[in-house]
Amino acid sequence: MTTSTKAAPALNVDATRNQLLQLGCAHAAEQLDALLSAAVKKTTAPHAFLEQVLGAELAGREERRIKTSLRLSGLPTGQTLANFDFAFQPAIERSRVETLATSGWVKSCETVLLQGPPGVGKTHLAVALGAKAIEQGFSAQFFRFDELLTLLKRDSHLPPSKLRRKKYLSTALLIIDELGFETMDREEASLFFRLITYRYERGAILITTNKSIRDWTELLAGDEVLAAAILDRLLHHATLINIKGRSYRLRELDEALRTKQ
Ligand SMILES: Nc1ncnc2c1ncn2[C@@H]1O[C@H](COP(=O)(O)OP(=O)(O)OP(=O)(O)O)[C@@H](O)[C@H]1O
Ligand SMILES: [Mg+2]
Repeated sequence: MTTSTKAAPALNVDATRNQLLQLGCAHAAEQLDALLSAAVKKTTAPHAFLEQVLGAELAGREERRIKTSLRLSGLPTGQTLANFDFAFQPAIERSRVETLATSGWVKSCETVLLQGPPGVGKTHLAVALGAKAIEQGFSAQFFRFDELLTLLKRDSHLPPSKLRRKKYLSTALLIIDELGFETMDREEASLFFRLITYRYERGAILITTNKSIRDWTELLAGDEVLAAAILDRLLHHATLINIKGRSYRLRELDEALRTKQ
């Protein structure tokens, strides 16, 4: 291409792109050329073109927000509702999970408790629901219970003003995975109680556990009063999903055994 010395074109795209960049509209700036040539070809009306440029910016920002929030949430990747095989686990009512996926329970600071033996998809569903909440604009944090306990112990001497800023308190949705593998001692049970009490009616909690509610007293250092107080708060506004079913991890083994018979 040769550099032209002719009069500048009526629309200086570079200048417009720079203006968009100065305004912090990087996504619109990036797509300006493509949108403009499509608009010229299709003789798009000016207001429709403007809408496309603004739409490109908004869509780009939304995509970036979701990506960043997912990264900061600590949620593992790859486990979604789309790749959850509901047919394999008939104990799970698909419609209940789909209702939870609309995140109304996150907005109203409720609890979801996913209970069941190993491999039935508790963590998978927890991760998928966490990602849905983020897509719908909520913040979420995912912790394995032992990791969370380490943080609670580390922060136990912080003043309330500093404690409130910790992600496990400030996030809209706190996901606690694998509660119940180990029994808590009294200090741990009391820290867990403080966490639940703080978040009660302030933020949503999703817990996955292999323990049934009956076993919570034993889990909480044998303290019946504490267990009752915790469960009372957790179950006040709660959805309980009890997954009685086969382990997805063992399905290949199951299938191999069945074909041998
Ligand atoms: N119904 C399902 N459809 C597709 N994948 C599944 C399903 N159930 C479980 N999985 C997959 O099987 C593996 C084990 O599931 P998951 O980790 O969710 O089990 P879990 O109930 O949390 O078990 P644990 O109590 O041992 O933590 C994961 O890789 C998960 O993605
Ligand atoms: Mg799990």
